Amino acid sequence: MRTTNVLLRAGALLSAALIAGFVDAQTSVVDRFRVRGTADNEEPTPAEASRLPVRRFSEAPTGFDSLTNGFLPQGPAFDTLEEDTVVPLRSYNDDRFIFEEVEKNADGLGPVYNAQSCRECHQNVATGGASQVAEHRTGHLDGDVFFESLGGSLVHSRATNPEIVERVAYEDSVRTFRISTNTLGDGFVEAISNLAILGVRAAQPASLRGSVIPAPVLEANGQVRIGRFGWKAQHASLVSFSADAYLNEMGITSPLLPVENTSSGTFVGFGTPFDAVAEPEDDGTDLHAFADFMRSTKAPSRGPITPNVLAGETIFKNLGCATCHAATYRTVPPGTKVNGGTFTVPDALGNKIIHPYSDFLVHDIGTGDGIPVQSTPEFAWTANAMRTAPLWGMRTRSRLMHDGLTFTPREAIERHTSQAQAVTNAYKALGDPDKELLRAFLDSL
Ligand code: HEC
Ligand code: HEC
Repeated sequence: MRTTNVLLRAGALLSAALIAGFVDAQTSVVDRFRVRGTADNEEPTPAEASRLPVRRFSEAPTGFDSLTNGFLPQGPAFDTLEEDTVVPLRSYNDDRFIFEEVEKNADGLGPVYNAQSCRECHQNVATGGASQVAEHRTGHLDGDVFFESLGGSLVHSRATNPEIVERVAYEDSVRTFRISTNTLGDGFVEAISNLAILGVRAAQPASLRGSVIPAPVLEANGQVRIGRFGWKAQHASLVSFSADAYLNEMGITSPLLPVENTSSGTFVGFGTPFDAVAEPEDDGTDLHAFADFMRSTKAPSRGPITPNVLAGETIFKNLGCATCHAATYRTVPPGTKVNGGTFTVPDALGNKIIHPYSDFLVHDIGTGDGIPVQSTPEFAWTANAMRTAPLWGMRTRSRLMHDGLTFTPREAIERHTSQAQAVTNAYKALGDPDKELLRAFLDSL
């Protein structure tokens, strides 16, 4: 996410002509991330609800089996698809093919980027899962005010030319890693209403209460929705996250985010020797294929549920972990419009029960990475706020917390301080057998 702050520092380094283009480009990106309007409840009114059929909830399908949850048909056998036979948006397998597709220079890759395919970072243990791949973000403080690095807080680790690989400035001493999160089951998360998240928040005791991140739905002209995706809950819609990832991870522009990234503040886009493809590099089809693939994925499944796992779950609840790591959400009724009215939740995603073990709110538990969601003053408070990490699928990960620098669940718990200090103290007071039971529960997720 870009900000105007970079402009203040970029000026000295760039020629007057470049500055003009750069300022326009950057201003329009800031504008694209501007949050507009007020959030809908996204629930039927009592009058509408009285006309709907009685709501019958069912458990969302789970599994790491690369089979559709029913949002899209499964489609032609995956192994039979080729670049010239794939039909975007037709099926789970078609959209999976596009999610896995390796982008090359001729497709608009880069000029600065992190990887060539969504799957490079979202693959464990099935396409769409998490991975150990970490990106890095940097910036610096001037007094209390955070300034992103010249090319934005995301420092791209690769480029199409050795001369333009981004480097971290010595002065940019606010630094973090962020590892790749899971996207399996995120279609169900997208189908949680704003009101449901506010309901979980309202039930939290004041000392543990989380905060809402207002996220712009890019495909709804910035209409605000409660954020839920990413380490900072910085996005609310899968199309918006896809546009952001396509640009920022792979360097591919789209109608939603048509401005190429700079290399540490220097323009390297179309018209320079570094980029031969004009904007937008994707006409928007791929964005929807990525989003529809993720919407078709099953939620992460659980490991064996043994008596020890059940005993550990009770300890998890009694300690207060589940206050933030909320076990259960229910999705909206089919037919409900979400994402600023741009997405109507279908039968496959509506009236489902999911167990993400997250409230989708942000908290300061003392692990904050110092990098706000956006560098505008209204987001300054988010510098040290982190989304409660959803714990579903946790047994597929051996590097924990946003920076991936924690190797065991026990150390992950011990890193929780600030708002979670009382809960952590209660954990530390447990005897070893109870700690083992809690561990058995976490290992089953
Ligand atoms: C270089 C690695 C990398 C690539 C390539 C990549 N991602 Fe990600 N992805 C990440 C990281 C890291 C995060 C967490 C980022 C954060 O919150 O700051 C993430 C988070 C996400 C999330 C949020 C999931 C959640 O619930 O937290 C979605 C959705 C997503 N990526 C989609 C995509 C799509 C679609 C593509 C391809 C266009 C893609 N990603 C390519 C690394 C990557
Ligand atoms: C005040 C809210 C809050 C409470 C209470 C809380 N957590 Fe967390 N938890 C978080 C947040 C926020 C993160 C993400 C922190 C980060 O990555 O910087 C997190 C991360 C984690 C992770 C790392 C997950 C991953 O994917 O890397 C584990 C494991 C975890 N918590 C377990 C627990 C357990 C067990 C308890 C109870 C002893 C607990 N948490 C209590 C908010 C909370």
